[in-house]
Amino acid sequence: MKRKRRRSAQSSPASLSLIQTPALLALILQLLSFLLVLLLSILLGMFNLLIPVLLAAVLQGGIAAGLSRTVGQARWWWFIQFFFPVVLVLMLGLHLPPTLFLGAFLILLLLYWSTYRTQVPFYPSRLTVWQEVERLLPEASFRFVDIGSGLGGLPLYLKKQRGDGDYRGVEIAPLPWSISRLRAFLAKSAVRFERSDYQKLNFADYDVIFAYLSPAAMPALWQKARAEMMPGALLLSYEFTIPDQPADIVITAEGDKASLYGWRM
Ligand SMILES: C[S@@+](CC[C@H](N)C(=O)[O-])C[C@H]1O[C@@H](n2cnc3c(N)ncnc32)[C@H](O)[C@@H]1O
Repeated sequence: MKRKRRRSAQSSPASLSLIQTPALLALILQLLSFLLVLLLSILLGMFNLLIPVLLAAVLQGGIAAGLSRTVGQARWWWFIQFFFPVVLVLMLGLHLPPTLFLGAFLILLLLYWSTYRTQVPFYPSRLTVWQEVERLLPEASFRFVDIGSGLGGLPLYLKKQRGDGDYRGVEIAPLPWSISRLRAFLAKSAVRFERSDYQKLNFADYDVIFAYLSPAAMPALWQKARAEMMPGALLLSYEFTIPDQPADIVITAEGDKASLYGWRM
C-alpha cells in the first residue's frame, strides 16, 4: 500500500553524542564546579581560611547552575544543579542509614531506567485522557499500542471498555513494566505488556498508537510514524505536539490544561 509522506523531522535523540545527553552533561558540569570549589578551598586554606561545608555546597551549586545556563541547558537543569549539592550536604547532616540511600537509588533506577538517554521520565496520564482516547478508537476491531505504557492504566482501561481491540503496551523501565504485568495478571486482562524500546516496534502493525512521552522524543517519533504507519492509522500524543506538524485532532478535556493531539496518516 502506498504511504503518504510529509516533511521529515530532525535527528533522533539516539543520534546525540554521549556528551549531549543532558544528564551526563549536567554531571560533568557538577564535577567541574566541585573541582573549582575544591581548588578555592585549598587556596583559602593556605591563608588559614576555611569555607563551611554548606557554603561550599551553595557555591558549587551556583557555579554548576551558571555553567548549565551558559551551555544552554533547559531551565529545570539550573535548579537541579543548584540544589543537588546543597540537598546532599543537608541529607548527610541527618545521618540517615546508607541503606536508605541505596534503596531509594535502586527504586529510582528501576523506575526511570534509561531516562537519561530517552529524556522521557515516568508520569502517568489520567482517566479523562483515557476517555478521550476511547472516543477516538476505530469502530471495527483494531490494533492499539501505548508506546511507553508506564503502569499500564490506559490499555487496561481500554480493553475493559472496548473488548474488540487488540491491546499492547511497550515499556522500557523494569519497575513500571513489572507493575503493568502484575495488574494485567490480577485483572485477567488480555492486554500484552512487553519490556522493550518502542523504537524496535514496526508501527505498521498498529491502527492506533498512543504516546505520552516528552518534547525531546517527538521529532524522532514523527519520523518513525511517517515512515512506518499505514494510511488511515492514527498517532495520538498527550500533551506534546510535533514541531511544525499541525495536528488533525486537538481535544482538551474539561479541567485539563494539556491537550490530546492526533495525526491521521
Ligand atoms: C510519561 S510516561 C507515560 C506512561 C503511560 N503511557 C501513561 O499514559 O500513563 C512515559 C513512559 O515511557 C517510557 N519510555 C520512555 N522511553 C521509552 C522507549 N524508548 N521505549 C519504551 N518506553 C519508553 C518511560 O519509562 C515512561 O514510563
